[in-house]
Amino acid sequence: MFRGLCRALSGLKPLPQKPDAATDARGRGFSPDGASRDTDLKASPRHRATVTPERGRRFSPHGAPGLGRVYLVGAGPGDPELLTRKAERLLREADVILHDRLVSPAILALAGPGPERVYAGKKCGDHHVPQGRTEELLIHYARRGLSVVRLKGGDPFIFGRGGEEQDALRAAGIPCEVVPGVTAALGCAAATGIPLTHRDYSRSVLFLTGHDRDGRSPDDWSTLTRRDRTLVVYMGLQPLADFCAGLRAHGLSDDWPVAVIAEGTTDQQRIVRGTLWNIADRAAGAGLPSPALTLIGRVVAAGDDRALERTAAAVAPAID
Ligand SMILES: C[S@@+](CC[C@H](N)C(=O)[O-])C[C@H]1O[C@@H](n2cnc3c(N)ncnc32)[C@H](O)[C@@H]1O
Repeated sequence: MFRGLCRALSGLKPLPQKPDAATDARGRGFSPDGASRDTDLKASPRHRATVTPERGRRFSPHGAPGLGRVYLVGAGPGDPELLTRKAERLLREADVILHDRLVSPAILALAGPGPERVYAGKKCGDHHVPQGRTEELLIHYARRGLSVVRLKGGDPFIFGRGGEEQDALRAAGIPCEVVPGVTAALGCAAATGIPLTHRDYSRSVLFLTGHDRDGRSPDDWSTLTRRDRTLVVYMGLQPLADFCAGLRAHGLSDDWPVAVIAEGTTDQQRIVRGTLWNIADRAAGAGLPSPALTLIGRVVAAGDDRALERTAAAVAPAID
C-alpha cells in the first residue's frame, strides 16, 4: 500500500522492493535508478536484516508511531576529521545513508558495516538521481520506521538543496533534523591558509555560485566588486573566465587576486593562484578537477606583500 501511495505521489519509477535491495552481494551501492555503483563498501548481513520491512517498523524513535526520522547531515569538504562528532554518531546509528557524490568513501567508512548505503548523487550536467526521487526515497525509508541519514558534502544548507529536502519532509510529516557541516569555503580557506576576512583587507565575505539555476551570470555586479569584500564562488570552475571578465568589466582591476582550490582538505588538494586576468587560463592549464572553489579578494594575497602592494591603491578606507 505504501509503495502504491509513493508511486501515486511521485509519478516516477517504482520504489525499490525493499532497502536491502540497495546493496548487491558484492557490496555495491544501490542507485535508485536501477544501476549499481561501486562504492568500495561492504554490506553486512547484520544490516540486511536491519532494514527488512519487519525490522524497519521495529521502532518509532520520534514522531508518530512507526515513523522514522531523517537527519540532513553535513559531511564537510572531504577530510573525514572535519566531520562533527554528532554526524559521526548518526552515521554509525543509521539504518540507511543516502549520500552525495562529494562524500568520500573514507567518510562513509566511518559508519561501519551496518547502515545501507544509497547513492543519491548529482553532478553538473549529469543529474544521476533527480531531486524529486531523492526526496521520495527519504520519505519512503522514514515511513518504514528507519533512521535515515541524508549525507551531503559540506553543509546541507549551503548550495546543498537541504532546504528543498527539509520542505519535502515537513510536507510529508516526517521528523527531520539538520546537522551542520564545515562548508567548502571554510574548509578550503583553512586548508590553504587564506583568511576569508581580515581586519586589513576584507570586512565581509560573500558565498555565491558561478551562475544561477538557469545558467545566468549575476544581475547586480556592484555587490561583487566591493574592494573590502571576499568572494567565494561555488561551482565556479566552468564559468570562471566569464565571471572574471564580468568583475573586470564592472571595476575590479586585472591584477585582483584569485585562487582556485580543487579537492580542498583532501590528500588530492591543489591550489592555483593568479589574478582576474589570468586565473581562468592557469586553472585550465593545470587541469584542475571538480570540485573546485574560487576565492577572490585581497585576502588571497595576504602574506604576499608584493601582490598586496599592487592592489593597495584600490583598497577601501581602513577597516577596524
Ligand atoms: C553543490 S555545491 C555543494 C556545496 C556544499 N554543500 C558545501 O557546503 O560545501 C558543490 C560545490 O562545492 C564546492 N566544493 C565542495 N567540496 C569541495 C572541496 N573539497 N574542494 C573544493 N570545492 C569544493 C565546489 O565549488 C563544488 O562545485
